Amino acid sequence: MDLRIKSFEQYEHDYAKSIHQPDEFWAHIADSFQWKKRWDSVVEWNFDEPKIEWFKGGKLNITENLLDRHLASKGDQVAFHWEPNHPSETSKSITYGELYTEVCKLSNGLKSLGVQKGDRVCIYMPMVIESVVAILACARIGAVHSIIFAGFSSNALADRINDAQAKVVITSDGLNRGDKSVDLKFMVDEALESCTSIEKVIVLDCIHSQSKMKDGRDIDYNSLINEQSSDCPAEEMDAEDMLFILYTSGSTGKPKGVVHTCGGYMVYTAYSFQNVFQYEQGDVFWCTADIGWITGHSYIVYGPLLSGATSIIFEGIPTYPDAGRFWQTIDKYKVNQFYTAPTAIRSLMSFDHKFVTDQDLSSLKLIGSVGEPINEEAWNWYYENIGKSNCPIIDTWWQTETGGVMLSGLGGLSPMKATYAGLPLPGICPVLLDAEGKEIHEADTEGYLCVKFPWPSILRTTYGDHERCKFTYFSNYKGYYFTGDGARRDEDGLYRIIGRVDDVINVSGHRFGTAEIEDAINKDQYAIESAVVGYPHPIKGQGIYAYVVVNAEHTSDLDITNSIANSVSQHIGRIAKPDKIQVVKGLPKTRSGKIMRRILRKIAEGELSNFGDTSTLLDPTLIDEIIKGVK
Ligand code: WT7
Repeated sequence: MDLRIKSFEQYEHDYAKSIHQPDEFWAHIADSFQWKKRWDSVVEWNFDEPKIEWFKGGKLNITENLLDRHLASKGDQVAFHWEPNHPSETSKSITYGELYTEVCKLSNGLKSLGVQKGDRVCIYMPMVIESVVAILACARIGAVHSIIFAGFSSNALADRINDAQAKVVITSDGLNRGDKSVDLKFMVDEALESCTSIEKVIVLDCIHSQSKMKDGRDIDYNSLINEQSSDCPAEEMDAEDMLFILYTSGSTGKPKGVVHTCGGYMVYTAYSFQNVFQYEQGDVFWCTADIGWITGHSYIVYGPLLSGATSIIFEGIPTYPDAGRFWQTIDKYKVNQFYTAPTAIRSLMSFDHKFVTDQDLSSLKLIGSVGEPINEEAWNWYYENIGKSNCPIIDTWWQTETGGVMLSGLGGLSPMKATYAGLPLPGICPVLLDAEGKEIHEADTEGYLCVKFPWPSILRTTYGDHERCKFTYFSNYKGYYFTGDGARRDEDGLYRIIGRVDDVINVSGHRFGTAEIEDAINKDQYAIESAVVGYPHPIKGQGIYAYVVVNAEHTSDLDITNSIANSVSQHIGRIAKPDKIQVVKGLPKTRSGKIMRRILRKIAEGELSNFGDTSTLLDPTLIDEIIKGVK
């Protein structure tokens, strides 16, 4: 049960073992779980197809490991404290015993609607306890969940439903976030106009909006579960059966469905959770991510529950009703481990210091960061003001595709250095490659970050398109998993992430493909062509800068940019709205028609000269035009 490494010496020992005897290493950890049948082989793999199988032949159900297994000893222990959007609303807590009952009821409810093992269920919900129930109910009956972040638009939702061919949507009448509310049910109705696979929509009443229910299709969540039995046998799953699909952005317009499977994901999320956060029984853990992202999957739901932890689900935002909300909540629940994103830290740094000092943060033992590089200023502020120079900061580097944390300090056991994510977890073999694909061994050098041996929660495929998985992650450098990030390694072997080296931008820790945003812009009535690049943004890490060629002679620039921004909201969601939109006469292209993004990136960064070699440009005067536009 306790999977924790307890000293740096043990880390070194376990790391060496995980590299030299991976089978023994992982078998020992996996043996601490409950299997219906033990595996035949620990890992079989090749990165060429790729084909990766962990705990092959093993049979299990992940929900037995995170619920049933704990009932005897932890039935009355709180699994989640739910903190509502506004502090004046009533908070709620749910114990492991109650969660078990809720999950079984919804599992039976899903079965009564005809959902079977292998069917895809889309979850489009606010940050409420029922979202966790929905996830676990799917897992219990072997249905594959696909959570769509509730900030995505109806078009984005429809694309993902169609790609997964989901049978059921679980949603709510709406959600409150800060002083805004979103009519989720309306979004679902709109999305379903272009989806044929959905048979039923389950609607949870969250904001009492009396949304219109469609006869024969829509079912109220509570009436569905009311009559159900509170026992539901857990479906026997193969270790390599699909557990969930989670869509993420890549360098083409179409988001890809990253697939994780039952056995390996279970083992690695629990192992990494306990080690990275040094979670001890009885601690209160808080990860502020949304359940719709991988961070929420792995470190709100699976990792903590598998470890029998108590954690927090927060419905609101850091600045509502005031900028003290995080610190008040830490004080209220006496949080021991706090895990958030650099963008939140940077935004909260700028408010009155009283918001922090008014609260008692002495329960904190560790503070963490995830999603994007944390700059030195934010790191220091976080360390001094939130951690009171007393708590280790863990900067955790990982990805939707990796399923769990890959590089990070282990809760203060291993060296900590501002802006460095740190050392690999046991079982993780990172390498830096040069442009030729050769491994770099010197210290203090930058390279492409790759991984050369599989770990239990590596993605298995991209849903419905294995070629894409192979092409995106396993083709650039033969024999390696390519992360898409550039990194640097210091003389002690600590890694520092520099950022994406592909056409992906990271806005407030959310990942978007430039092509995806360009597609959304190009759907606007005025837009002819566009190029999107990232640029350094003081709060968001990266901002979105869009250069757009338009066809609108008698329309003001303001109308055009508003229309374009709306188009992005409509096709992806508000979260992807460009920070800057510049109308241009043309995009700088080479003679072969390739957009010179390097130059556009420089201009977006505010650098208006020294463009290097521009001799291949078809029309160099366009650059002067664009610069004039900036000025
Ligand atoms: C990309 C993955 C992992 C959960 C949230 C994001 C960037 C992530 C860090 C970090 C620097 C980071 C990388 C990575 N990233 N964590 N600690 N330091 N960069 O998951 O949406 O799959 O994005 O986020 O660029 O490739 P994601």
